[in-house]
Amino acid sequence: MNKPFVWLTRQIFEPAIQKISEVAEVEIWPGENPPPSDVILEKVQQAEGLLTMLTDPITASVIENAPRLKVISQMAVGFDNIDVDAATRRGIPVGHTPGVLTETTADFAWALLMAAARRVVEANREVHQGIWRAWGPNVLTGVDVHGATLGIIGFGRIGQAVARRARGFSMKVLYNDPQRDEQAEKTLNVEYKDLDTLLQESDFISLHTYYTPQLHHLINRQRFEQMKEGAIFINTARGGLVDHQALQWALESKKLAAAALDVFDPEPIPAGHPLLQLPNLIITPHIASASTFTRQKMAFIAAENLIAGLGGEKLTFCANPQVYQAG
Ligand code: GLV
Ligand code: GLV
Repeated sequence: MNKPFVWLTRQIFEPAIQKISEVAEVEIWPGENPPPSDVILEKVQQAEGLLTMLTDPITASVIENAPRLKVISQMAVGFDNIDVDAATRRGIPVGHTPGVLTETTADFAWALLMAAARRVVEANREVHQGIWRAWGPNVLTGVDVHGATLGIIGFGRIGQAVARRARGFSMKVLYNDPQRDEQAEKTLNVEYKDLDTLLQESDFISLHTYYTPQLHHLINRQRFEQMKEGAIFINTARGGLVDHQALQWALESKKLAAAALDVFDPEPIPAGHPLLQLPNLIITPHIASASTFTRQKMAFIAAENLIAGLGGEKLTFCANPQVYQAG
């Protein structure tokens, strides 16, 4: 029996590839960088399954030119690179990998929060440059984390995991989300606030929502203006949620003390971007889920979703469960 052909847009954890190979003929884009769009378009002519990364634009035209495609399995929790509506129209389930990366991503949001508050990157850069300033009362002073107010925008798994960590720092935690979660409010000791109030009252603001076009530039100039003088802004979610020109204004005007971003729009950030000149901005290249162990688990879940889709079974983690409704 011929095995179905599947295409992986990147080399992933080898045991996960082996698992896929048991049921499919596997081809893998060999590059470390994402495959160009024309290669994606060519491969989907034949593929019955695609295993994708968040860097791969899986547009409506890709999906509509994939006559044999049965499943798209994304190795990420977010899937805004995929035109899910186009997949749903064709009855193609889209898999993703929530859950396994929650704690690892929350750890990293905290790494950025702490680093921004206490100017860790700036201080490290100075020392590496041979500048060890003598201890001084005003040298590299930052902002206290303990006892401060943390505002979390997007209170899903990751937002809640970030909130849980805040308890160890005796922080007051506010959250905003389209859905109030009164259970979590009790267990995590957090308060629901409308977005305006959250922005006005928080010392730290951290984004943890999915990206949708409705949320494009959710954090714009007006939102930054609402924030406290000297607040710190963290984004480990998606770059498109933030107007980066407005962020530049907020950092240059010292409205914000600092910001830390793990995501940008576009990625990578263009060389010479003016934000890169600012000492009070930390920026990392979209690595919040990048612990070795978590990436291995993500690879396995992506493999399992792919295999389920090839076999016509329900994906365990599906971004468009509507495909399973009788139609
Ligand atoms: C990372 O950004 C992810 O969506 O998994
Ligand atoms: C991701 O796991 C989230 O929903 O926050």
